[in-house]
Amino acid sequence: MKALPALLLSVGMGLGAGGALAQDEPDMIGTMSQLQLFLHKLSLSVDAGNLDLADFYAHELEETIEVAESIEYYHDIPVGRLTGSLLTPTFESLEAAIDGGDPEAVKSRLRGVISSCNGCHEATGYGFLRIAPSEANPYMQDFAPRD
Ligand code: HEC
Repeated sequence: MKALPALLLSVGMGLGAGGALAQDEPDMIGTMSQLQLFLHKLSLSVDAGNLDLADFYAHELEETIEVAESIEYYHDIPVGRLTGSLLTPTFESLEAAIDGGDPEAVKSRLRGVISSCNGCHEATGYGFLRIAPSEANPYMQDFAPRD
């Protein structure tokens, strides 16, 4: 049974080496997918009239935006700087509208955030990536308020 700790140790070292590799190349696709996921879920919450849930997803989105802000460069693209100047301001005004509780203001700020996503795709040569509003719910999740 002495082999077990040795096995665990080598598995641990393997993971450690993987972690070091992941640091060299920022997880741009993973970060972008998460932006899209949380923005879509936020938008479905707003459509369902559930601002409490929208607020929850705003926090998740904020954390993902912070990850994007921390990516100094992806290839030659200054992702952090562009995210800070293009996306963070429209996101913050969305967040303020959610806190204010006015669904119409939230919907219009949501469109502003989507424009920011696309503005950065344009600015970085990825204009073919067009984020568009979608009311379809592909998730095994009910976005409606509980009562
Ligand atoms: C720094 C500018 C920038 C901002 C801001 C930005 N993106 Fe991106 N996005 C990119 C770049 C660059 C790529 C291509 C990444 C690659 O080549 O791996 C990309 C790729 C993507 C993809 C393709 C990956 C996939 O899973 O299909 C999606 C979706 C995406 N972005 C969604 C968003 C959303 C949603 C927002 C706004 C909440 C956003 N992006 C904001 C620069 C940006």
